[in-house]
Amino acid sequence: MSHPVRIAPSLLAADFTRLGQEVAAIEAAGADWLHLDIMDGHFVPNISFGPGLVKALRKSSRLFFDVHLMIAPADPYLAAFAEAGAELISLHPEAGPHLHRSLQTIRALGKQAGVVLNPGTPLEAVAPVLDLCDLVLVMSVNPGFGGQSFIRSQLARIAALRGMIEASGRKIALQVDGGVTAATAPDCLAAGADVLVAGTAVFGAPDYAAAITALRGGGTGA
Ligand code: DX5
Ligand code: ZN
Repeated sequence: MSHPVRIAPSLLAADFTRLGQEVAAIEAAGADWLHLDIMDGHFVPNISFGPGLVKALRKSSRLFFDVHLMIAPADPYLAAFAEAGAELISLHPEAGPHLHRSLQTIRALGKQAGVVLNPGTPLEAVAPVLDLCDLVLVMSVNPGFGGQSFIRSQLARIAALRGMIEASGRKIALQVDGGVTAATAPDCLAAGADVLVAGTAVFGAPDYAAAITALRGGGTGA
């Protein structure tokens, strides 16, 4: 099985004083997606940004906008993120109250839908809704902050999910988020992931193109 690797830099690690230029820079450097971490200070212990920023960036970027919602409840904001220009909206089962309904809503808005599994969330949480998923995201850190260390126990879960996805017969992206660097990316890819989120490993690097190439498995990098 061969899966093209997509790299999704996380805006959370960008220079917030010059976000438009940062997004343009990763686009020019070969990024495939832009990962947008939405945090509410309630579901996770940090606050980031909302649909207004997504909408502003949408005007000047052609990247695929991958919106990772770490907010609860998420349902009241799904339409706003869809209208802001998200191509894909992913959420956590714990956001509640009805995961299946939330995924139906995202798809009814004409967007791709994803489910995010925290390191402590059983894989079974996604099994009943796999038919509504375009993406499953395995968190390899606890959500809330960039720059944390990769939790290696998540590799076996990525492999298990790859098996579930293959068994489903559906085309579902398998994403990893948190502590992904050129050192941990090969293990993620070997386990079956095909979309790598990386904040610090891209925006913290002196050369974004070299960092993205390194994440894909080519060359050396941080
Ligand atoms: C954490 C976020 C991640 C974060 C990744 O809650 O979901 O997307 O920005 O940052 P790094 O790559 O620095 O671990
Ligand atoms: Zn994220």
